Amino acid sequence: MLKVDLKRINDPKVNLKEKYAKGHSNVYIETYGCQMNVADSEVVVSILNKNGFAYTEDYKLADLILINTCSIRENAEKRVFNRLEQFKHLKKKNKSLLIGIIGCMAERLKERLLEQEKLVDLVIGPDAYRDLPALVQKAEGGQQAINVLLSREETYAEISPVRLDKNGVAAFVSIMRGCDNMCAYCVVPYTRGRERSRKPDTILNEIKELIEKGYKEVTLLGQNVDKYNWDNGEVNFAKLLEMTALLSPNLRVRFSTSYPQDMTDEVLHVIAKYDNVCKYIHLPVQSGSSRILDLMKRGYTREWYMGRIEAIKKIIPGCAISSDFITGFCSETMGDHQETLSLMEWVGFDYSYMFKYSERPNTYAQRKLEDDVPEDEKGRRLSEIIELQNKLSLKSNQNDIGKTFDVLVEGFSKKSKDRLFGRNSQNKVIVFNRNNYQPGNYVKVEVVDCTSATLMGKAINRGGLI
Ligand code: 5AD
Ligand code: SF4
Repeated sequence: MLKVDLKRINDPKVNLKEKYAKGHSNVYIETYGCQMNVADSEVVVSILNKNGFAYTEDYKLADLILINTCSIRENAEKRVFNRLEQFKHLKKKNKSLLIGIIGCMAERLKERLLEQEKLVDLVIGPDAYRDLPALVQKAEGGQQAINVLLSREETYAEISPVRLDKNGVAAFVSIMRGCDNMCAYCVVPYTRGRERSRKPDTILNEIKELIEKGYKEVTLLGQNVDKYNWDNGEVNFAKLLEMTALLSPNLRVRFSTSYPQDMTDEVLHVIAKYDNVCKYIHLPVQSGSSRILDLMKRGYTREWYMGRIEAIKKIIPGCAISSDFITGFCSETMGDHQETLSLMEWVGFDYSYMFKYSERPNTYAQRKLEDDVPEDEKGRRLSEIIELQNKLSLKSNQNDIGKTFDVLVEGFSKKSKDRLFGRNSQNKVIVFNRNNYQPGNYVKVEVVDCTSATLMGKAINRGGLI
């Protein structure tokens, strides 16, 4: 085991500000994985900014390269190892360059990263970012710098993240951290620790600052937002969502991720009540088979999930719904797989994120169940659900032809500077003629055509939420 020098890490005298008073060092950060990681990278840059580091988008100019990592599937980890090999060459040219791994891979792979393969100088887990400045200093002194301790309290509540996105229109705001659900396949509870909620006023203050800076959309983030709970239920997720919606009628509010077992009707009524709460719910089901859901320890059945979908459709007509799926989980039969396909058809998901099951070390599934569906069969089932989802997405998009939506413009279309892209409340991407509109504008757009991925439209006039 590596020893963590806590005394030194917590020493308030360790402050890079002094060291870089005359100039500054550059930090480059590369982010893999989910939106939580994107939000975390912004917290990390904020902490480093206050300690003499400037952010650079060019890794060749960096004195410190950080990779914010994801462990959710084996592929994600492989990608990071490949990237580290590439960065190793930079170190040959620049001996003082420091490379750090932060995020979910830190805890899981600390020994391999620091000791066996000596790939990095720093390893810092998702709850230890406040220690980064001290750890950088330690690494500069040639010592191994590591802190992967998980916390029951850390939410980085009062830290104002430095926005790394360039559009200045939409931002992620973290409202809670960790996950207590312990789904059988999932590594997140081990890499990100226990569930904890961030103090509501710090969330609302962060959003007010965003509004002042001209942002038009926030996405409230948590592994399971329905479990948001401040002060023993004083503020639950429904209340927080409502408080956010009331900050400004011109601010769009999104959230992710909801959990079928925990999503309440109270939340659905808040979504329905406020025009600026987007009519879109990401509600991962993972499988359509109750037997597999039980093995996955999801805590609900196919029928329960269908009940939640019915509630959404009743309370929020026109609400878009997306899901996550895992194919080839332990012991999944063709019958189970067919149930997934039939559930997809029944719901008519607008969009889905679909994955092959990837066994993760130390999870319940790895310890107790057999990963017995062959890789090529997992792949075959995955192709089948992707094909079905494409059909469902196309059908859902075709349904929108002729309808008019308020679109929040996010930027220019990749293909042409004469076209803009944005999203409607249902989170669908719409591309349309630019006219005089700018990113950040609300525009009324009529849908004239579509593919399974995108709606094509024509701008009608300046739109708005009010
Ligand atoms: N294998 C494949 N997919 C996984 N996910 C989580 N863990 C695994 C795993 N071990 C998927 C789930 C989850 C999404 C974020 O990633 O579908 O909802
Ligand atoms: Fe993982 Fe389940 Fe928590 Fe999602 S809810 S992060 S799948 S344990």
